[in-house]
Amino acid sequence: MTAGSRRAPAPPFATLRPEYPPGSQTLFTGDEIREAVERLASEIRAVYGREELTVVAVLHGGLVFAADLMRRLDMPVRLGVALASSYRGGATEPGELQVQMHPGLDVAGRHVLLVDDILDTGRTLLRLRDSIRAMDPRSVRLATLVDKPSRRVAPLHADFTGFTIPDLFIVGYGLDWNERYRNLPDIVALPPGGGR
Ligand code: IMP
Ligand code: MG
Repeated sequence: MTAGSRRAPAPPFATLRPEYPPGSQTLFTGDEIREAVERLASEIRAVYGREELTVVAVLHGGLVFAADLMRRLDMPVRLGVALASSYRGGATEPGELQVQMHPGLDVAGRHVLLVDDILDTGRTLLRLRDSIRAMDPRSVRLATLVDKPSRRVAPLHADFTGFTIPDLFIVGYGLDWNERYRNLPDIVALPPGGGR
């Protein structure tokens, strides 16, 4: 195909002006996130070597992170998804947790890496890890881009963590408030009480 050469190049991130939440503060820039993803990928490569890995992206928030992370892995990678939602609407406190594994997700006897955007109370990843363990995998590990350990209620820690933050509500790079801001290239914190 030759048409690509005639297409206008995509504008670099710097020329796009997505709307940020009013009063938000940048915690991590796109460049800092890229560095963190690179570091996590090298930790993951060191653990698995050339062994096949089944990445299970936790939708929706973990989608952006999983997409970037898996392209920095060089072992054979399979991709699955799980769907988790704790209905919040415009609130920043979680509601009822619902999880759903992708039908046909085949993890028996395989190394599984659950990839999510953020580890908050831990309820989501605990439930998903238990569901996967029940499917008889060879191993299950957790990768989270962001960890908020002060909020934990479930006994859980991630094997691979990008950033550790205090109790802030953050959006961008897959993370939403009321289904907005997932497309921001940076991670920003809402002002205290913001979004409520
Ligand atoms: P859990 O409380 O660890 O079960 O996290 C549940 C989900 O809540 C995460 O996967 C995120 O989708 C969402 N979440 C938790 N903290 C934040 C935040 O600061 N911003 C956006 N979403 C969040
Ligand atoms: Mg999530």
